[in-house]
Amino acid sequence: SRPVRVVVLGSGSWGTTVASLAAHNTRTTLWCRRSEVAEEINSDHRNRQYLGERPLPDALDATDDIEFAASQADVLVVGVPSSAVRATLTEVAPTLRAWVPVLSLVKGLEAGSRMRPTQVVGECLPGHPVGLLAGPNIASEIIDGMAAAAVIATQDEHVATALQPLFAAPRFRVYRNTDVLGCELGGVLKNIVAIAAGMAEGLAVGDNTRAMVLARGLAEMMQLGEAMGADPRTFMGLTGMGDLIATCMSPASRNRRIGEALARGLTVAEAAKELGQVAEGVKTAPIVMQLADEFGIDMPIAAEVEAVVAGRHTPEQAYAGLGTVPPGTDQ
Ligand code: 13P
Repeated sequence: SRPVRVVVLGSGSWGTTVASLAAHNTRTTLWCRRSEVAEEINSDHRNRQYLGERPLPDALDATDDIEFAASQADVLVVGVPSSAVRATLTEVAPTLRAWVPVLSLVKGLEAGSRMRPTQVVGECLPGHPVGLLAGPNIASEIIDGMAAAAVIATQDEHVATALQPLFAAPRFRVYRNTDVLGCELGGVLKNIVAIAAGMAEGLAVGDNTRAMVLARGLAEMMQLGEAMGADPRTFMGLTGMGDLIATCMSPASRNRRIGEALARGLTVAEAAKELGQVAEGVKTAPIVMQLADEFGIDMPIAAEVEAVVAGRHTPEQAYAGLGTVPPGTDQ
């Protein structure tokens, strides 16, 4: 039988990296919004804007024709920013064949609907099996071949079992999980904590403060996740604590870099412009605070990040605010 074709939508750093992993295992096409990027990948095997001079597999095929790419997909991977998921999937819906599984790489909530990416997939592509790939996965390290692990979360474990070998590599281990909600929320919520960690870095706080942000940030993620119906244990794994640690610690994290820029006194708009990439936590913070209010969860770290992002607090005020969390609040 012919090998399956994986089609990845979105040629940012992570979409390109996941497409490169898949290209070592099966036929793979990467859809790039900009034709120059597709040409650079096909002719030079590079995506210099996002991954510098790191070589991509020769077998990776890039295109800017989304309808044609979608028509060829046996597996569809969504690697565009959360704000673009709906429009992008609306474009592929007419040509995507029935039953093609769809895997989201997206770690942000949709503004307005407050939906998770897999929910948006379910609405745009009804009837398709849906899942996500998440974990502590800084793209450049994985392209460089450093050991890492991720999780494919699907409701139906058979789907994850079929997808696992398409993305696995000798130094990229892919686990399965059926808690789609918990895995997806982990990736979404850690971005907000990473902005707080970036601010901490910029303000040169102490290691006690850094540890507090990680530990209490994880507690906030778990409490909201459990209230929304996720298994709290999921947050102790790769897609929760794992991704939280990688994103808060890595100088390459976009969300952490936004936090560092805010601590240098830049506005959110200036910080985003300097970054030149999407940091999902910025737009997700106010959505998460709405959810926290709705579910009655106290999220002081997320609240301070939201206040800084909205321009109501400075990073210094945010950290002063975190010092006034009522003592004795449940761990
Ligand atoms: P950033 O978007 O902050 O770079 O997040 C990286 C990440 O999700 C690593 O798993």
